Amino acid sequence: MRASDCPDEIRQILLTQEEIHERIAELSRDIERDYEGRLPLLVGVLKGAVMVVSDLARELRIDVEMDWMAVSSYGSGTESSGVVRIMKDLDTDLSGRDVLIVEDIIDSGLTLTWLAQNLASRGAASIEICTLLRKPSRLKTDLAVKYIGFDVPNEFVVGYGLDYDERFRNLRDVVVLKPEVFGATAADVSDVIEPARKVFKPGLPQAGFSAG
Ligand code: IMP
Ligand code: MG
Repeated sequence: MRASDCPDEIRQILLTQEEIHERIAELSRDIERDYEGRLPLLVGVLKGAVMVVSDLARELRIDVEMDWMAVSSYGSGTESSGVVRIMKDLDTDLSGRDVLIVEDIIDSGLTLTWLAQNLASRGAASIEICTLLRKPSRLKTDLAVKYIGFDVPNEFVVGYGLDYDERFRNLRDVVVLKPEVFGATAADVSDVIEPARKVFKPGLPQAGFSAG
């Protein structure tokens, strides 16, 4: 599904599938270099990371293995609390493995902080994190994330695996929805939603929106 297939519901396209694929190719070159001579285990966090893992794994020019976890984070409303329950665990024994956790988006970072500690306790040789998106203004932990696709403004985004109420996961682009889709009017959300602006590759000067 392309953004043009749901024009009434989308406010702005933040990232096109072409921009996503180009960035995943760049991250893949870094990952190939860093894991040369090793066999990393990509751990995808269900369900949001399905598209990222699928594109990343096929872009990589080294052997990888893949496994999946599903976790649910207790929290009030859309805020995660850092208290996490494993809904589906890995099939793979992690002892001595080089684990690369792959996520769709890091918001507070609390879920991944918990997950990285949990996987580390299983005897992995190394644990790193790759995320397509990060909301830097929302981070609540000093989680070390080695591979980051894009920093995005503090807005609710969907597409490319990310959902709103299970919808829009099969959208090829990453988009911001119109407030009406959440059952709100534009006036209701004008205080909490900043105007959508361009996203940035981490490390580049971030003119356009300020964190915090
Ligand atoms: P965290 O523990 O606050 O980092 O929560 C991260 C999880 O919240 C992600 O894996 C997503 O499932 C969900 N999430 C956070 N922000 C968004 C968003 O903008 N769109 C869709 N899901 C989101
Ligand atoms: Mg997720």
